[in-house]
Amino acid sequence: MSFKEQLENNKKEIEKILLEKLPKNCEMQKEIQEAMEYSLMAGGKRLRPMMLLETWRMFSGRQKADETVKCYMAAMEMIHTYSLVHDDLPAMDNDDYRRGRLTTHKQYGEAMGILAGDALLNYAFEVAALGAMKSEDKAAAIKALSVLAGKSGVYGMLGGQVVDVQMEGKEVSPEQLEFIYRLKTGALIEASMEIGAILAGAGDEQIELLKQIALKIGMAFQIQDDILDITSTTQVLGKPVHSDEKNKKMTYVTIYGLEKASRDVELLTGQAVEQMGMLQAENPFLKELLIGLVQRKK
Ligand code: IPE
Ligand code: IPE
Ligand code: MG
Ligand code: MG
Ligand code: MG
Repeated sequence: MSFKEQLENNKKEIEKILLEKLPKNCEMQKEIQEAMEYSLMAGGKRLRPMMLLETWRMFSGRQKADETVKCYMAAMEMIHTYSLVHDDLPAMDNDDYRRGRLTTHKQYGEAMGILAGDALLNYAFEVAALGAMKSEDKAAAIKALSVLAGKSGVYGMLGGQVVDVQMEGKEVSPEQLEFIYRLKTGALIEASMEIGAILAGAGDEQIELLKQIALKIGMAFQIQDDILDITSTTQVLGKPVHSDEKNKKMTYVTIYGLEKASRDVELLTGQAVEQMGMLQAENPFLKELLIGLVQRKK
C-alpha cells in the first residue's frame, strides 16, 4: 500500500470509530448530540488519533487496533475538537469558520457552542474509561488515562491556552512563546504518541525518547500553523486566515520572520525524525507522516 492509500485508509477507519463512539440516545437534549457530531465529523486531518494508532502499531507490532486503542483514539480526537470549539468562541479567538464550515457557536449559538465543547471533553473521558475497562492490561490503561487527563489540562493544552489568551496584545518573549506552543499544541501531540506507546507496553526509556520527539513535532506543527495563518487562504485552510493578527497575537512568525519560521519547522522535524531512528521499533508510515507535516498546506 502506498503512503497516500494508507493515510486515506487510516482516516476512514478513524472516522468510522468516531461515529461509532458518539452518543446516540439523547432525548430532550438531542441538540447537544447534533452539535457534537457537527464539530467532530466536520473533517480535519485526524492527526492525533493517527499518531496514537501508528505509535501503538510501532511498539505492539500489531496492525488491527483493539477496542481499548479505538476508545483512546476517539477520546483524543474529541478532546482536540473540544479545544478547537472553545478556541473559536467569541471570548477567545472569535472565529467563524472551522474545518470548512461555520464554527459550532455560529451554527448553534454561543451557549450550545460552550456546551458542545464541554460535552466533547466529558464524553472523551467516558469513552476512554470504557476502553480502560475492556483492557487486558489495566495498569497501562489507567496510566494512559492519566496522561490523557494531564496533557489536556492545567499542565497541558489548557494551560497553554491560558497564557496564549493572557498575552494577547502584549510583547511575548521567546521563552513565553515556547511555553505556549509546548503546552497548547505540543501537549496533545505528545499525549497521542505517549498513549499509543503505553497501550502497546513500550518501556519507560522508549517513552521518554518518544516524548522528546513528539514535542519537537508539536512545536513544528504550531509554527507551521502560524505560517499558514499568514500565507494560506480561508478556502484551503477551512478556517479564517489572519486570525492571529486580528487578535493581536505575537507568533513565531512575527518574532522571527517567515523565513526563519519555515527553516525551523524543517529543522525541528528533521531532528525529531533523526531521533526516531534511535527507537527500538520503527514505523515507516509514521516517519513519512511526520516528515510530510513540514510541507503541509492545511
Ligand atoms: C489546529 O489543529 C489547532 C492547532 C493545534 C494548530 P489541526 O491543524 O490538527 O486541526 P484539524 O484537526 O486538522 O482541524
Ligand atoms: C490553538 O492555536 C491551539 C489549540 C489548543 C486549540 P490556534 O488558535 O492558532 O489554532 P487555530 O489556528 O485556531 O486552529
Ligand atoms: Mg487560539
Ligand atoms: Mg484559533
Ligand atoms: Mg492558528
